[in-house]
Amino acid sequence: MSHNGAASWRVKGNDVATADHTPQNPDPTPEESDTGSIPTDTGSARHGEPDSVPRGLSRRGLLGLMGAGLAAGLGAGVPLGAGLKARSAGRGGQDSGLEYPFYGEHQAGIATPVQDQMHIAAFDVEDDLTRDDLIELLQDWTYASRRMTMGLDVSAAGSFDGGAYMPPDDTGEAVELGPQGLTVTFGFGKSLFELDGVDRFGLREHTPAEFADLPKMVNDFIEPALSGGDLMVQACSNDPQVAVHAIRNLTRIAFGRAKIRWSQLGFGRTSSTSTAQSTPRNLFGQKDGTANIKAENPEELEEHVWIPSSQGPAWAVGGTYFVGRRVAMTIEIWDSVRLEEQERVTGRDKRAGAPLSGGEEFTDPDFAVTDDRGEPRIDERSHVFRTHPDNNSGIKMLRRGYNYVDGNDELGRLNAGLFFIAFVKDPDRFATVHKNMARDDLFVEYLRTTSSSVFIVPPGIEEGTYVGQGLFES
Ligand code: HEM
Repeated sequence: MSHNGAASWRVKGNDVATADHTPQNPDPTPEESDTGSIPTDTGSARHGEPDSVPRGLSRRGLLGLMGAGLAAGLGAGVPLGAGLKARSAGRGGQDSGLEYPFYGEHQAGIATPVQDQMHIAAFDVEDDLTRDDLIELLQDWTYASRRMTMGLDVSAAGSFDGGAYMPPDDTGEAVELGPQGLTVTFGFGKSLFELDGVDRFGLREHTPAEFADLPKMVNDFIEPALSGGDLMVQACSNDPQVAVHAIRNLTRIAFGRAKIRWSQLGFGRTSSTSTAQSTPRNLFGQKDGTANIKAENPEELEEHVWIPSSQGPAWAVGGTYFVGRRVAMTIEIWDSVRLEEQERVTGRDKRAGAPLSGGEEFTDPDFAVTDDRGEPRIDERSHVFRTHPDNNSGIKMLRRGYNYVDGNDELGRLNAGLFFIAFVKDPDRFATVHKNMARDDLFVEYLRTTSSSVFIVPPGIEEGTYVGQGLFES
């Protein structure tokens, strides 16, 4: 069965706007003024306007905006920062004008150098959503995200130019903050393809064979309300407010079509995905991300992260699977453990992050090295031993998690942990490593997993298309 309902949708060329539309230059171009207030549901629907008010950044609104200035040099794969940097004030001395390409073979926010902050949300679509509505939502999200990654408001009318009698299209809290390296990464949940045996959107036949839920692991205390969902949006940025602004405004745009199922704020990256980045530390004080897959190693990305054509399906090639696990860390207990034991549990020394078999941080662990008593220097139950590719049929994953602290419990203990994120070409590869870890990894004693989600991340967005278009046209 072929569904081509979306084939006619196109945003041409450099669709979204010119650099002149930055919040730092609030004077709209004449074309922008002509578009007036781009209709959105977000304000009006909330206030009970009649159904005739177009919902979201509607197709009509998008097509209208297409007429607005098209700038050269803002195309696929072209670094987008040049025009905006100087005008992005930002704060805290960061490179607020930092921009990552929105278009490309793979979605941004995976091999992109990990930003410092994350806001992630999963959405469930409304019961009455049609296939065409879903496509329109993805179009609107693509459009608005592309703008936000340029440091722009979600529409040309934006925060201030929609007229005094309408709620602004954009909520405004990211005005003048700059793009701050924002990436927006989209994923589709298994329930989008089939929910309780119902093929809501005609997608069931396109479900990848590998797309399976994770088996229950030791120390899993999964809360279903904090897991899964039909759609996932991961917003990463070097400024927390920019990431929150992205999720908040995409949520508004989805009003009446999808609503948040769960969300999570993360701070302080717990990995590196580029050799240019230093290795950060997680809330256990460990260097985390040392042995991660790095963007400078495209062979490893091909081998372990991107869905290959030999695996398919065709619409998913170049995509990947997102695995997200909210892992609560019993930090008060960890803090009372002596340093030597903390290092044994990890398999690396805490100061430098070097493997206990010797060498520097980036020296490969040698599991055969023994101490004076003939015992392995790296304990067989240490985290590094359990998760290392040598002990997992060569499997690697791209880790991209964040710390979180969500208040405290009634005893005054921090409700803290790591929102673990890994990108893998097949969720079963993650499950294999995790099973090996959860079986008797010394670390597991200090961890408690409360949410678990798998989403398929469609391949990159080409200019003029929307995220996941290949799925709807397959
Ligand atoms: C709160 C939970 C976790 C913490 C604090 C943590 C911490 C660490 C640390 C400190 C390292 C060594 C440094 C490095 O190479 O990055 C590491 C490595 C690693 N971790 Fe975790 N981790 C956690 C959960 C997980 C989970 C759930 C998995 C999934 C199976 C996992 C998979 C890995 C892998 C594959 C490596 C690299 C091993 C290697 O190639 O040497 N970790 N982790």
